[in-house]
Amino acid sequence: MMKVNWEKIATKTMQQHLKPAPDSVAQMAQRRSYPRLQEPAPSGEVLTSILQAGLRSPDHMHLRPWRFLSISGDDRKHLGDLFVNHIVAEQDDASPEIQAQAHTKAFRAPLILVGVAAYKEHPKVPKIEQAVSTGGVLNNIGLAAYHCGFGAVWRTGPYAYSDIVKAGLGIDEHEDIIGYLYLGTPPSWDRKMTPVEVDDFVVTWP
Ligand SMILES: Cc1cc2nc3c(=O)[nH]c(=O)nc-3n(C[C@H](O)[C@H](O)[C@H](O)COP(=O)(O)O)c2cc1C
Repeated sequence: MMKVNWEKIATKTMQQHLKPAPDSVAQMAQRRSYPRLQEPAPSGEVLTSILQAGLRSPDHMHLRPWRFLSISGDDRKHLGDLFVNHIVAEQDDASPEIQAQAHTKAFRAPLILVGVAAYKEHPKVPKIEQAVSTGGVLNNIGLAAYHCGFGAVWRTGPYAYSDIVKAGLGIDEHEDIIGYLYLGTPPSWDRKMTPVEVDDFVVTWP
């Protein structure tokens, strides 16, 4: 039987742990949100790859407690109509300008993914975990899009919590909108990035 050279394996593993992170990790650290997005949005095979990457997010008991609505092109008009319906229901005196402003928000990017937590009953997996998993998918989709040369921004706000918008989108009252992920191409990649210091957030315990 061949003898295992543990020493060699240990040295190799240590070397792997010590070597600099690959470029993909450095690229992740450069990710930033792009609130202004235009055509093109990811489509075809690249979009499928981005979605596959996102859907590989961690998920306790593999419940897949999520679903995503993809809205693009002229269909965004229907989303805009729902935003207006919400505003009109909230503000009796919503002026035509305010309504138009609400409608425009559905056109802030060529592709919008609505991330929905579609909770499943499970004794070991509370709703919060399922919401977090759904957020993990949205985050990974945004990150994968960035790796593929597209921009994204995650938004919530009143339209994520509105019963009117939810009903219009066919989202059950027992489900939650975790976020709208706007996807497209930024007019400029030059955007300020808030630096993060690891030591501000991570301490060695105890
Ligand atoms: C759950 C969630 C909800 C958010 N909702 C909004 C929002 O409604 N409007 C907004 O401008 N940014 C929102 N953001 C923040 C942006 O997505 C973005 O992270 C922020 O502008 C910081 O930019 P950066 O990602 O480049 O650091 C949200 C982020 C998360 C995680």
